[in-house]
Amino acid sequence: MVEVFAVASGKGGTGKTTSTVALGMALSERYDVTVVDADTGMANMLFHAGLSDAETTLHDVLAESASVEAATYERFGMTVVPCGTSLDGFRDADPSRLREVVARLAADTDVILLDSPPALDSRAAVLPVVMADRTVIVLQPTIPAISDGLKVQEYATSYDTDVAGLLFNKVREDGIERVAEKTERYFEGPTLGAVPESERAREARRAGRPLLAHAPHCDAAAAYRRAADSLSVRDGQSGEVADRFRSAVIPEPP
Ligand SMILES: Nc1ncnc2c1ncn2[C@@H]1O[C@H](COP(=O)(O)OP(=O)(O)OP(=O)(O)O)[C@@H](O)[C@H]1O
Ligand SMILES: [Mg+2]
Repeated sequence: MVEVFAVASGKGGTGKTTSTVALGMALSERYDVTVVDADTGMANMLFHAGLSDAETTLHDVLAESASVEAATYERFGMTVVPCGTSLDGFRDADPSRLREVVARLAADTDVILLDSPPALDSRAAVLPVVMADRTVIVLQPTIPAISDGLKVQEYATSYDTDVAGLLFNKVREDGIERVAEKTERYFEGPTLGAVPESERAREARRAGRPLLAHAPHCDAAAAYRRAADSLSVRDGQSGEVADRFRSAVIPEPP
């Protein structure tokens, strides 16, 4: 079985990478999970997963100078495929090869989470959302963030990518009540959870560790675990998923 999720938002800094790694760790209690830094222009998963010294990354694979296996690392109970941060690495990488990378990974894992770029502004940036089975939309509970999240939903569903749900992040004391009615009315997926604004999350990033490893008992970690529990992973056939990725047409950005 395998299901591929894009973790997207339509805005920078909402917590996509934090959430990808946290959901990945939480889901790894039940599934064989692979997380991929598909934000190849502004990669930073390596800093969240203790891999800042990784010698081989997705950039090398996308430049055809390394195998997929050489860029996978077993960390925190998951398989992590980090991406490099250099401009040269980005320039040499062919983002369309991500299709083959995911197709290869799909043969050997239950859940793939694609940490996605913040904007849908290039062919490379739209690829994760277009190819995934479903997308998790990470957003702060503000009207502008919701409006950006709706654009992601519209784009995803126009390519038959379903919405797995909304994950509110950096939620402050006034909570999500103010926006709950709008999100229920306009979004197609359920609310998976509301992760509080958390100093532990910032500390974890500075320490180069996933939140669930750094502070497993804090409120934010518990919220991520509940969100992961509410996500029922579908049982896609690995071969079909791989074929779909290999043959995906890369669309134009909106
Ligand atoms: N719940 C939270 N509470 C407080 N800080 C958080 C929370 N979640 C994430 N952060 C912090 O916000 C910053 C951005 O998080 P992250 O890198 O996960 O966002 P992103 O959406 O992936 O950003 P980008 O668009 O740049 O890829 C980081 O410093 C992270 O530690
Ligand atoms: Mg990120």
